[in-house]
Amino acid sequence: MIVAIDGPAASGKGTLARRLADYLNLPHLDTGLLYRATARTLIEHGQNLSDVHAAVAAARGLSLTDFDTKELRGRDMGEAASIVAAIPEVRQALVDMQRSFAARPGGAVLDGRDIGTVICPQAEAKIYVTASPETRASRRALELKGQGEAVDYQAVLEEIRRRDARDASRALAPLRLAEDAVELDTTDLDIEAAFRTALSIVEGKR
Ligand code: C5P
Repeated sequence: MIVAIDGPAASGKGTLARRLADYLNLPHLDTGLLYRATARTLIEHGQNLSDVHAAVAAARGLSLTDFDTKELRGRDMGEAASIVAAIPEVRQALVDMQRSFAARPGGAVLDGRDIGTVICPQAEAKIYVTASPETRASRRALELKGQGEAVDYQAVLEEIRRRDARDASRALAPLRLAEDAVELDTTDLDIEAAFRTALSIVEGKR
């Protein structure tokens, strides 16, 4: 079974995807890391984030084992990732990697922005996780504070709004609700309640 979890920045989709994958005993791919790692390679090489040729080479050179570092998940990298993610050739270069992950025997859980719409339109379960920008910003600010970062709520909120606008307005694979996705608004839900709701959506599709 393929479970596709999409949604805007800091909606909680990553946490939900991880918990669902653990519970269902399926492999999980956080596809945001692919765009983040592409951006990191460009930055490391002193290349411009809008350099199409360099960005495609960086995307093609990725291997799924480079991931999951704290630096990749940082704020700056999220912003940089959304710039490279707007380049159609970069998205194209990352399609096969994501589809072959999804094609693992037994299935997989993938989270991102375009899993249900572009990468795995055939996914059995599609959840679109949302929350108000203010809720997402305060959750993100709390998380960053927990990691010892000095944060300004207003700056985090602006960052989230900017990233939402960029992700929703790009020409290829913009962030949007797939027709057959179930929307899960977590504004008034804690993680436990959100997980239970997500699980019941997935169980309903099995
Ligand atoms: O989900 P995360 O915040 O890690 O994603 C970072 C950026 O990568 C997003 O803002 C988005 O621009 C891009 N992204 C994407 N498609 C995906 C996953 C992430 O465009 N499937």
